[in-house]
Amino acid sequence: MFDLLQTYNPIYSRRKFVLRSNHSGSGSSDPVNTTLRVNGRTHELSIDSRLTLLDTLRDVLGLTGTKKGCDQGACGACTVIVDSQRVLSCLTLAAANEGRDVVTIEGLSTNGELHPMQAAFLHCDGFQCGYCTPGQILSAVCTVQEVHAGVPSHVTRDVRQTVDSATLTDEEIRERMSGNLCRCGAYPNIVAAVRQVLSAS
Ligand code: FES
Ligand code: FES
Repeated sequence: MFDLLQTYNPIYSRRKFVLRSNHSGSGSSDPVNTTLRVNGRTHELSIDSRLTLLDTLRDVLGLTGTKKGCDQGACGACTVIVDSQRVLSCLTLAAANEGRDVVTIEGLSTNGELHPMQAAFLHCDGFQCGYCTPGQILSAVCTVQEVHAGVPSHVTRDVRQTVDSATLTDEEIRERMSGNLCRCGAYPNIVAAVRQVLSAS
C-alpha cells in the first residue's frame, strides 16, 4: 500500500510529490529529481524512482486523459507517444523518460483545433463510454505514422512489398491496433476512423 503525499508549489509544473511506502518490508526509495517534457511543457519533478509514467501523468501532473485500465500492459488504455513511438505508460518509469518528448491526449490538438484522428473518431463514432479512447487515438496516430514509414505488421502478406495506405486492409488496421482493447466493442468504427485519416493523408 502506498501513501501518496503531496506538497504543492504555487507553480503548477513544480508540484513536488513524494511516494512513501507504508508497507513493511517493501522498502522505500529516496525521491529522484527528473525533468519530464510533456506536451511541449517542461516539468521539474522530485518523485519516487519507482513511479510509473502513467501514475506521474495522472497523479503528479494532473493529466487524467491518460487512462489506467489493467496497469500491467494488457489493455492499451494508458498509451502515450514518447519520441514519436507509442508506449504503454504503465510499463515504463517516469524517471526513465527524462529528456524524451511525451505526448498525451491533452497535447494532441493544436490551437484548439482537433487533431485529424480526434476528428475522425468523432465523425466515425469510434467510441461509446470513451474510457479506451485516448489510448486508441494515440495508438491510431502512430499506426498512421508507421504505415507512412512503410513499417510492416504481423499480418503483412509480403514484407518485400511497400506498405501502401491506399490498399491497406482492415485486417492490417485491426492488427496494428490490436494492443488497444475496447470493452464497448467500438472496433468497426475505430477501424473506419483510422482508414479515414489514412485516406486523407
Ligand atoms: Fe497500461 Fe492497461 S493500463 S496497458
Ligand atoms: Fe468504452 Fe472503448 S469506448 S471501452
